[in-house]
Amino acid sequence: MGKPQYKIFLGDYLNPLNDKTCQWVRQGALVAKLNAQNEYIWCFIGKEKEALAKYGQKNSLEVCEFPGGVISPGFYDTHFHWVQDDVRTMPKENLLVWLSKYTWPHEAKYKDKKFSKLKATKFSKKLLSVGTLGGACYASIHGHSVDHALKEFVGDYTIGNVLMTMNSPSYLNQSPKQAISLVKTRSEKYGKNYALTPRFAPTTHPHVMKEGSRLAKKNKNFIQTHLSETPREIEYVLGLYKELPGFEKVKSYTEIYKKCGLLSSKTIMGHGIHLSREELKMLSKSKTAVAHCPTSNAPVKELGLGSGLFDFKKAERAGVRWSLASDIGGGPFLSMLDVMRSFYKQNQKKKIKEATYIKAYFRATEAGAELLGLSKKRGNFQKNKMASFIILEKPGIKKEDMAEDVLKKIIHRGAREELSKKVLQTYYNGESVYQKT
Ligand code: GUN
Ligand code: ZN
Repeated sequence: MGKPQYKIFLGDYLNPLNDKTCQWVRQGALVAKLNAQNEYIWCFIGKEKEALAKYGQKNSLEVCEFPGGVISPGFYDTHFHWVQDDVRTMPKENLLVWLSKYTWPHEAKYKDKKFSKLKATKFSKKLLSVGTLGGACYASIHGHSVDHALKEFVGDYTIGNVLMTMNSPSYLNQSPKQAISLVKTRSEKYGKNYALTPRFAPTTHPHVMKEGSRLAKKNKNFIQTHLSETPREIEYVLGLYKELPGFEKVKSYTEIYKKCGLLSSKTIMGHGIHLSREELKMLSKSKTAVAHCPTSNAPVKELGLGSGLFDFKKAERAGVRWSLASDIGGGPFLSMLDVMRSFYKQNQKKKIKEATYIKAYFRATEAGAELLGLSKKRGNFQKNKMASFIILEKPGIKKEDMAEDVLKKIIHRGAREELSKKVLQTYYNGESVYQKT
């Protein structure tokens, strides 16, 4: 039996439109139609009554109801390390110590292809179980850790092998030639699903970044790296580059990346917490985006690395595009609900009233899809976008509740660990790809 031509999904839904607006529709309906490319595409978004009147009599039709859930777009996590799932909970004194003590020794294990493949299969299920349907992801230095992840992950991902050609431990160090060769094959093979990924300026030779950037632009890849996460890191970077030919006069971390050709509209910088006005200007002018990782940057007592809080208002004033990200394993949980909670809480503590749940939700869905060049097809519920969505556990809801109240009940309630369990089902391209047991 072939696939039904129409699928109607009935239930209450949330639809993030922008930083200030989110639709909350009770007894809603989303109708998808199968197109010639075998994709389920939304053809109706509205109320149940109207949808059933219009499509209820179609011959080839499937109707799914979600009375115990809230229908939501899937999440887009624009900065995470799929090879760091096992170091999420390791002690975090600060970034550089955590990297060298726990993270790098662990990433070295992915040299073993069997280990890498098995881990990719498991991690893929984890992504679906928390409702993440796309993102920008860091693998280990090993080319196969990109291949395995791209093969296993369900959704829309851009993934890159981290480039570590200097100031790296011997067990995780490549020659520039090796690094460039790995980039070249994958850059050509994967196009937009590949991300040129210098780990960060200290570990990647400038000429590797330059050559990588040339390849990335030629093959329409994404570019991602870490930028200005901690003051100590910035000091370390500027100290190192002062000694490198051609970089003697650089004034900032961002300028180093600019000189290496990394700033572009397809570039996502992780963190970007401690940036000067000039640096923000450079990012804005080049349309470079920032992936903000509040749980990773949170204080150590909140299981983060204590790196500081990204000033989103300053970034927005400068015209810098940004979205939310988990930064697993700097961030302790993969769930974007946990990331949204942390964003809200840390900003509200500083009395930044613009940091609403609606804003957090928009920045974890549509804004992430936009950074990934996907917003014509993904991110929220609009006609002609693909029928990909998740079902969130429905909290007790009052008649007068608005979108902000509903989101608060979903994101704010329960222990942190419980947030990972609030996704009941995940759908990609009109098909169920995960069901909570
Ligand atoms: N800077 C360089 N590498 C990393 C990493 O793996 N995680 C984080 N949070 N920052 C980094
Ligand atoms: Zn990171």
